[in-house]
Amino acid sequence: MYKLHKMLTSKAGLKCVGRIFSPRKLVGKNIRKLSNNKPAVILGIETSCDDTGCAVVDSNGAILGEALHSQQSVHLDNGGIIPPLAQELHRQKITKVVEKALLSANLRLTNVDAIAATVKPGLVMSLLIGTNFGKYLSRVGNKPFIPIHHMEAHALTARMVENIDYPFLVLLISGGHCLLAIAQSVDKFYLLGSTIDDAPGEAFDKTARRLKLRNIPEFSELSGGAAVELAASRATDPEQFKFEVPMVHWEDCNFSSSGLKNAILKHTLREEKKHGIIGDELVPDIYNLCAGFQLAMTRHLCHRTQRAMEFIELKNLIPEKNRTLVVSGGAACNNFIANCLETVSSQMGYRFVRPPPKLCTDNGIMIAWNGVERWLADRGVLRDSEEIENVQVVARTEFGEDWREKVANAHVRCQWVKLKLPYPKTRKS
Ligand code: KG4
Ligand code: ZN
Repeated sequence: MYKLHKMLTSKAGLKCVGRIFSPRKLVGKNIRKLSNNKPAVILGIETSCDDTGCAVVDSNGAILGEALHSQQSVHLDNGGIIPPLAQELHRQKITKVVEKALLSANLRLTNVDAIAATVKPGLVMSLLIGTNFGKYLSRVGNKPFIPIHHMEAHALTARMVENIDYPFLVLLISGGHCLLAIAQSVDKFYLLGSTIDDAPGEAFDKTARRLKLRNIPEFSELSGGAAVELAASRATDPEQFKFEVPMVHWEDCNFSSSGLKNAILKHTLREEKKHGIIGDELVPDIYNLCAGFQLAMTRHLCHRTQRAMEFIELKNLIPEKNRTLVVSGGAACNNFIANCLETVSSQMGYRFVRPPPKLCTDNGIMIAWNGVERWLADRGVLRDSEEIENVQVVARTEFGEDWREKVANAHVRCQWVKLKLPYPKTRKS
């Protein structure tokens, strides 16, 4: 705490080190909003799930400093996240992580313009640690506080590294969420589709766990999704298992992963019984099985995304000249999924943008950047101390204006784009 105290009280000047990404060009409208043309500096804190993240980002999109502590290995050992344990780990790490982010930026709290922290959605016990720490920094440093919606932050991160104008289409695929939306502005989203059961990352995680992929030494430290992707890349016959693509007859943009996940679980149980497999042993053809799962999931994500693009065309919602698909969230790290979404994008006249993997998974940078966007637009920046203290964390919350029924009522039928699969044998998309 001593170092943090020094950072809070010293008046050292602003010194920026380590620009990780090239600065994003600001449009004139934004530049005019910056005081004395000096970029705004926002500190962001993320603790919505199992990552303790903090970053300092400026309004040019430069990452001045960052730190991240992942709890992944602890939760992998426990077979899932135990909220009180996640909270305790956040509690143990938060001071160090914030100190490290400020130190790596060579900045002190006095140099920061505002504090942003994830307040929703997520695990309440986890959210409380980052939110309360953010409020504390705001109080002792006398700084404005910016409450952040975790999924909105995922949605806008790409704007930090690429020039992307509003409105754009965004697909968010993570461990807890699956959302397809039009990002209209920093605080206006139109929700076209969401999952009706499990999120894709969750289905990847449960599949990896059921297939006991951790028992393969080089897979043991990987997230479920990364493990399945690696396993699938080793398939000798990727089309040995042909799983049904979810929701093919539903003319909307919603998602479902649990049917596919259950098909894998049932198949595994059958194989275990058939071969008398017990304990740590793996079922046969595990790599082909992962490839089959990944392909069905990918086709599903591509179908829903393509329908959203056709709906946008039908209703003329995004000007043709700047149609962009942004894909983010942890499962967006999957290169097989990304390549197929890129094919759909190019066929449908969209630019495809995926932030670097470290910005797709949970991190403090995306929270700080969302703080920057809100600061520049002056949306949701709290300056009143009582209002700041009254900010509550929220486990579940809606995302934007709900257009899901509007999409379903349009009954958009699609001729599916043919995917370019990275192996010779292909079946009809
Ligand atoms: O966005 P994120 O870091 O945390 C949440 O907000 O959920 O996403 C974590 C999820 C996990 O379910 C993980 O298995 C999945 O992202 N993931 C992947 C891959 N890498 C991470 N899923 C599929 N393929 C990957 N390569
Ligand atoms: Zn996330």
